[in-house]
Amino acid sequence: MCDPTARVSRGITRWSLVTSAVFTAAMCGVGVVAAQTPRTGLGSPATPSEISAWGTIVGPGGEALPPGRATAAEGRALYDRRCAACHGPTGQEGPDDRLAGGQGSLAGDEPRKTVGSYWPAATTLWDYVNRAMPFNQPGSLTTNEVYAVVAYVLFLNDLVGERDTVDAGTLPRIDMPNRDGFVADPRPDIAAAR
Ligand code: HEC
Repeated sequence: MCDPTARVSRGITRWSLVTSAVFTAAMCGVGVVAAQTPRTGLGSPATPSEISAWGTIVGPGGEALPPGRATAAEGRALYDRRCAACHGPTGQEGPDDRLAGGQGSLAGDEPRKTVGSYWPAATTLWDYVNRAMPFNQPGSLTTNEVYAVVAYVLFLNDLVGERDTVDAGTLPRIDMPNRDGFVADPRPDIAAAR
């Protein structure tokens, strides 16, 4: 799985080679550079800068979190403008996924999966928002804006104070209520990549 040539053996264009390399890098947690496929002789190795142009992958440990910082107070107006229409003013109203509330509900009759009740890490919340939100304009937030709305979503879940600094140092240390609610994937290739 973590042999880069294995992942790119079916890649026939430069584009798909880069895609494969990013996927492999994500799975393996290392900067893997795709090799030219020996079978077809097509394509060229993806360079580290080509791979990083696809974006930063921030895992649970938060090592790749970029410099930047914000507080929930700074994120409130941005959340209201860019997130609330789909997630509700307090993150609980929808119409799309609920982001707040539901803590302690997972084992009950009406489990409510939210950032506060379900997500095991605050670092991957940064990663997800950075690459996928706002749903209608992904990639449009600056680094500090991502820190700001993440801080505000965490604040809506009572996980940080309004004026707490959220940055690469503090995010990995936030105790998410469901941090122990997941089990490690036992498949050997996944385990080996950790
Ligand atoms: C146009 C509507 C829309 C906007 C605006 C929007 N979202 Fe979302 N959001 C969605 C949808 C739809 C999903 C579910 C996506 C999926 O399941 O693939 C989602 C999912 C999420 C999730 C994952 C929830 C979970 O637990 O599964 C988070 C976190 C999130 N959004 C945060 C934000 C933040 C922060 C903003 C503002 C910067 C934002 N969203 C703006 C529609 C939106």
